[in-house]
Amino acid sequence: MSIIIKTPEQIEKMRIAGRLAADVLDMIKPYVVAGISTDELDTICHDYIVNEQDAIPAPLNYHGFPKSICTSVNHQVCHGIPNNKKLKKGDIINIDITVIKDGYHGDTSKMFLVGKTNVAAQRLCDIAQTALYIGIDMVKPGIKLGDIGHAIQTYSEAQHYSVVREYCGHGIGEKFHEEPQVLHYGKPDTGIILTTGMTFTIEPMINQGKRHIKTLNDKWTVETKDRRLSAQWEHTLYITTDGVEILTLRDEEKNWKMQLPHRS
Ligand code: MF3
Ligand code: CO
Ligand code: CO
Repeated sequence: MSIIIKTPEQIEKMRIAGRLAADVLDMIKPYVVAGISTDELDTICHDYIVNEQDAIPAPLNYHGFPKSICTSVNHQVCHGIPNNKKLKKGDIINIDITVIKDGYHGDTSKMFLVGKTNVAAQRLCDIAQTALYIGIDMVKPGIKLGDIGHAIQTYSEAQHYSVVREYCGHGIGEKFHEEPQVLHYGKPDTGIILTTGMTFTIEPMINQGKRHIKTLNDKWTVETKDRRLSAQWEHTLYITTDGVEILTLRDEEKNWKMQLPHRS
């Protein structure tokens, strides 16, 4: 097993898959309101991916996952299974979309705030997004994976949040999860060196309280042990000859670099 370097032809397919995954998050936005169930969000996304995009929702039946998207609400960290419970005002929810198009995967997630409320929840979501952007901003040929993890961990902990250790970003391509593992914590100048043609995700899970998690009896849903809030954002990335291309970038993020903290 090793890291698969993509050809320009494969990258073109990754671009298309990434675009479609990003489009699903844009499409679902107006539906994420108080009173809708996560099952309903799942159905809307499933139908859009299958019927409008002529693509495949990768989570469905993936190692037995029963739905087409992951929906993780409040203290849920990741891999939440859509169900008939309705969203309520003040909830925060991560929707994680992975599509397969022409044999290639695009994987991306974002946080939605249901109604506008809670300053603390808003701040957690913002900081988690900035943590992702800080990781992305590190990416170019020659840097090491540990540099990315260290940057995300240092920033998040300086904001008095914790970083989940048990789940990580991953190589992606013809397979949903390929090598390498992309940790969201670590030490600078450690791990493998990034080279042109790699494609992988960064997807930090950032907690309000302690980093510790537990998995529910449904075998999928991951929650914080202390039941405090958790937030996650994810992009699929391509390492170019001199930097990074975000394959799942949405229009609303086109000025993402403006959200980076000022250099000291
Ligand atoms: N999309 C998740 C990730 O970012 C994986 C979900 S696996 C599933 O890697 F089976 F829960 F869908
Ligand atoms: Co992923
Ligand atoms: Co994902």
